[in-house]
Amino acid sequence: MHITKTSPDEAPLDMILKPFSSIGHDWMLITAGSGTGRSEWNTMTASWGSFGVFWNKRTVTCVIRPTRHTWSFVEREPLVTFSFFDSEFRKSLQVCGSTSGADTDKAEAAGLTPVLLESGAVGFAEAKLNLVCRKIYAQDIDPALFIDPSIEKNYPEKDYHRMYMCEITGVYRPEQKES
Ligand SMILES: Cc1cc2nc3c(=O)[nH]c(=O)nc-3n(C[C@H](O)[C@H](O)[C@H](O)COP(=O)(O)O)c2cc1C
Repeated sequence: MHITKTSPDEAPLDMILKPFSSIGHDWMLITAGSGTGRSEWNTMTASWGSFGVFWNKRTVTCVIRPTRHTWSFVEREPLVTFSFFDSEFRKSLQVCGSTSGADTDKAEAAGLTPVLLESGAVGFAEAKLNLVCRKIYAQDIDPALFIDPSIEKNYPEKDYHRMYMCEITGVYRPEQKES
């Protein structure tokens, strides 16, 4: 499968991203790494996050608990990939969201193929969309700032997420076949 890159200025982002369902309902994979070898990358499923605009940049914002194996990869790497899949890969996303790369080969377990994209970021051959993004801001969720106290119930282990705002720098999609 050949994956083609479009710049975020040219890609029809409003057509291909749905603000509520793309992340919250369909889920995404958050991936960071420097290569496709077993120990060079890690990925995890996420259903919390948003698309938007900050500092005049098109952004994806996600939240990752420091207890995730993926967290240290995202901390280390300047680029993060957000990958979106057709519904036939729901099982793969369930696997990536219920096992840890610390002790599982997620590519094998989920039946996914990591690929090193031209930007140097890691995405997936099976994804209908890989958004390569550059981290621009990170902040730990601070329980002292919860205005709605019911948010605390999401943190029985007190493992408050770190929030990452990431600028979309590359839009990678499988090449459309002529019919
Ligand atoms: C549907 C779904 C959504 C999830 N969303 C998030 C999320 O937004 N943030 C997070 O830190 N963990 C989230 N998780 C949990 C991680 O995906 C899960 O703990 C995963 O096993 C971590 O893998 P890792 O240890 O290899 O990083 C979600 C899990 C599922 C199944």
